[in-house]
Amino acid sequence: MNNNTFSTITPEILALSNLCAKNSAIDPALYTKYDVKRGLRDVSGKGVLTGLTEIAEVRSHIIVDSEYVPCEGKLFYRGIDVEQIVDGFINENRYGFEETTYLLLFGEMPNNEELMNFKKLLGEYRSLPTSFVRDIIMKAPSRDMMNTLARSVLTLYSYDDMADDITIPNVMRQSLQMISLFPLLSVYGYQAYRHYHDGQSLFIHTPDPNLSTAELILHLLRPDSKFTPLEAKILDVALVLHAEHGGGNNSTFTTHVVTSTGTDTYSSVAASLGSLKGPKHGGANIKVVQMFEDMKKNLKNWDDEDEVRAYLAALLHKEAFDKAGLIYGMGHAVYSISDPRANIFKGFVKKLSEEKGRNDEFKLYNLVENLAPEVIAKERQIYKGVSANVDFYSGFVYSMLDLPLELYTPIFAIARISGWSAHRIEELINAGKIIRPAYKSVAKHKEYVPIQER
Ligand SMILES: CC(C)(COP(=O)(O)OP(=O)(O)OC[C@H]1O[C@@H](n2cnc3c(N)ncnc32)[C@H](O)[C@@H]1OP(=O)(O)O)[C@@H](O)C(=O)NCCC(=O)NCCS
Repeated sequence: MNNNTFSTITPEILALSNLCAKNSAIDPALYTKYDVKRGLRDVSGKGVLTGLTEIAEVRSHIIVDSEYVPCEGKLFYRGIDVEQIVDGFINENRYGFEETTYLLLFGEMPNNEELMNFKKLLGEYRSLPTSFVRDIIMKAPSRDMMNTLARSVLTLYSYDDMADDITIPNVMRQSLQMISLFPLLSVYGYQAYRHYHDGQSLFIHTPDPNLSTAELILHLLRPDSKFTPLEAKILDVALVLHAEHGGGNNSTFTTHVVTSTGTDTYSSVAASLGSLKGPKHGGANIKVVQMFEDMKKNLKNWDDEDEVRAYLAALLHKEAFDKAGLIYGMGHAVYSISDPRANIFKGFVKKLSEEKGRNDEFKLYNLVENLAPEVIAKERQIYKGVSANVDFYSGFVYSMLDLPLELYTPIFAIARISGWSAHRIEELINAGKIIRPAYKSVAKHKEYVPIQER
């Protein structure tokens, strides 16, 4: 079967799909009737309580007189405000991602010696099994690096003699190895894709164990391995802000669901990667940049509020860009008034856009950030408010760092593997029950009809 035949939607498949759609549509009123918490949340964004965690706290509401009231978003890693963490390592002129990973995994901040030893350990794990790049990454490179990453993770299972051992020391070892290897798997996957699909020269730079994760990504990616400290520092902040977001975000909840079955680390991580790839989750950062490219092409005057408003309305009416009806980078399942990660990021974005001479674009982002909530509120039923989320600015930052679009979501994964690992280990330590919520069947019972009589 060639590629074209493999991907063809035949009239038979179309007919079967129509049959499936006809028999699968559920009356929306039934969700209200049975009080189904769609998306495991109520309309105010309050999630169904399904677990406890010490790893992160996402604060979007406060209780006033037993009322659930929206507030400015706050994010705490192991009880420490992420804003303070970022201020701390920036003021001390250090990279912060490794220290953040230590905090998330072990529950406390490392001192100088602990941090040095931890970085050394991560550096030692920064090497792939012999011929992995040639035999696995170079073979059948995907268009999508999240697919490449997931395939590589699943293949690492075959290289691990203790793959199915879910005791904590073994899972810790596997997790640290994956935290170290994700930049290699992602960037090498991209280099292979560029080489085979785009006919570009192939660069496989040797990893340097002494670099921070952010520096390593730029070192592996750039043909000349060169980058400025500002570039690496901003990428480092992005990694810190994407490292963790509580147990309820889709990919981390996936970690909990899959881990609760007692399966191996590679299966659990591959499942979370599949979740993160989605455009409503980690894939949104690519969509934001593509949406802005389309917007810039279509707007005559980037400062004209009415014209920008009309474009945003066209997005919601499924008349512009990908016709999905979404303004990417806006809204969040939990946050309402603000996403603290977007706020922290915005300061750095402004600085970088000035340095890169992209002030006009920054102004356009700013305008969209201000206008979109009003446009969405006019067109949709909003209960909890909509504001810019972390992906609104991250894609713009990555484009200013000349990172290829294909690596935007993998960079999210390079960061979030720290959070997933902490949550997997927390799930295992607390030996939770297998996660198994309820689905009510609303199908009418029917008699079985023998095949000759149908
Ligand atoms: C993240 C997201 C899925 C959360 O959706 P949600 O939990 O339904 O959010 P809300 O309850 O506040 O949404 C209320 C309504 O506004 C809509 N809405 C929210 N954000 C929107 C957006 N950016 N564009 C268009 N409509 C949006 C929702 O679809 C919903 O309408 P519906 O009831 O007709 O489905 C949604 O905001 C979204 O799709 N954003 C764009 C993608 C994105 O940036 N994702 C990254 C998240 S970090």
